[in-house]
Amino acid sequence: MAEKFVIHGGQPLRGDVAISGAKNSVLKLMAASLLTPAEIILNNVPSLSDVDVMKDVIAYLGCEVSQNDNTVQLRARELTSVEAPYELVSKMRASFTVLGALLGRCGEAKVSLPGGCSIGKRGVDLHVKGLEALGAEIEINHGYVSAKAKALTGAEILLDIPSVGATENIMLAAVLAKGSTVISNAAQEPEILDLANFLNTLGADVNGAGTTEIVINGVKPESLTGATYSVVPDRIEASTYLMAAVATHGDVTLHNVFATHLSPIIYKLQEVGAEITTVSPNSLRVQCPERPKATNIVTLPYPGFPTDLQAPMMALLTTAEGVSIIKETIYENRFKQIGELKRMGAEIQQEGNVAVVTGVEALSGAQVRASDLRAGAALVIAGLQAHGTTEILDLHHLDRGYEALVPKLNSLGADMIRVPVEEDSPEKAAI
Ligand code: UD1
Repeated sequence: MAEKFVIHGGQPLRGDVAISGAKNSVLKLMAASLLTPAEIILNNVPSLSDVDVMKDVIAYLGCEVSQNDNTVQLRARELTSVEAPYELVSKMRASFTVLGALLGRCGEAKVSLPGGCSIGKRGVDLHVKGLEALGAEIEINHGYVSAKAKALTGAEILLDIPSVGATENIMLAAVLAKGSTVISNAAQEPEILDLANFLNTLGADVNGAGTTEIVINGVKPESLTGATYSVVPDRIEASTYLMAAVATHGDVTLHNVFATHLSPIIYKLQEVGAEITTVSPNSLRVQCPERPKATNIVTLPYPGFPTDLQAPMMALLTTAEGVSIIKETIYENRFKQIGELKRMGAEIQQEGNVAVVTGVEALSGAQVRASDLRAGAALVIAGLQAHGTTEILDLHHLDRGYEALVPKLNSLGADMIRVPVEEDSPEKAAI
């Protein structure tokens, strides 16, 4: 049944909140688990619909999957299929990462193209070129990528752009390849480092992850064992709470975070006037008693400002003092929150990939609709700071990436509930 959030805004967020494991990491660790027949136990797994989709994908391929709270047990003793069908892959682009793992383990794979996506075109050409460089023969037809390789051999691969997904797919295929693979202009995101650390725990030989050059020395299949591994904290979830705290002029301490992964955000939030202090090695406190000031943002690959936080940051800046300029360079269609924020009283002008945000004194609650995961997070931040009541529809987008969003925010003093959208109501009819 369709549901909506009802938020009575205006309360500053105060208190402590624990950050969950990273969605963008755990999905790839689950794909990587296909490389070994041994048992893998993942801890700190967030309860998210995207994780459920990945469980379905790898179970379809023959991996045994079970879950107990935030622990997932995986065992790909034997893979019973090398084909990931459209019905599953089209639900979530990250499932395309099984391509590299299947190719590495089985020498063949047939994976549906992830298809279009509401935030932009998001090609897979770099994934394909990388796997071809390792010796795979790849055909794309009828909406599927079919890859075959008698034996994958290490190669030097220079990525045109530091694609996260392409870096991961190549890493996974290279783990069991013969010889060494060097990925230059690799993505440096913390989730790449987490994947490398996980692979090394299994017995792989991956070096340089977290820098622009990753070297994977291929190992024999029998070198890979099982592992127990804890997923890295979610820097995007953590940053969303930091931004919500600043937008509501609050005082929040985050636990289970890696502050170094949050550097680009901490820097920007300090620029707008927030005070951020390290309370303990994995805890961070943010305070912002005054109205934040405007700033400028350009989205870039890590360690630049993440595209996934552009919309939440825009929501914060709608009530900052002054004019902010936001430039989106990663995706061509990632300003879908603008129309909804304007319905709440924000002053935003968009020209191509640039948005100019003129801070207003306050937003006013309205009924709005989440168009994608991070646009949805932006609307939550807007609703928390707005005067009056905000209703957010299309919550399935938020369920993809924020574990226990309502209880976490309410424990910080928010006034927010999740309720069914009533049958025959005008809002239901519009869905
Ligand atoms: C991952 C993240 C996503 C984040 C993005 C960029 C996951 C599950 N998702 O997505 O939240 O927004 O990184 O930080 O981890 N591109 C090509 N050809 C390719 C591959 C990518 O042109 O073969 C382009 C894309 O269209 C996009 C850009 O490269 O414009 C970045 O994409 P990429 O880094 O691959 O993002 P994802 O791995 O899909």
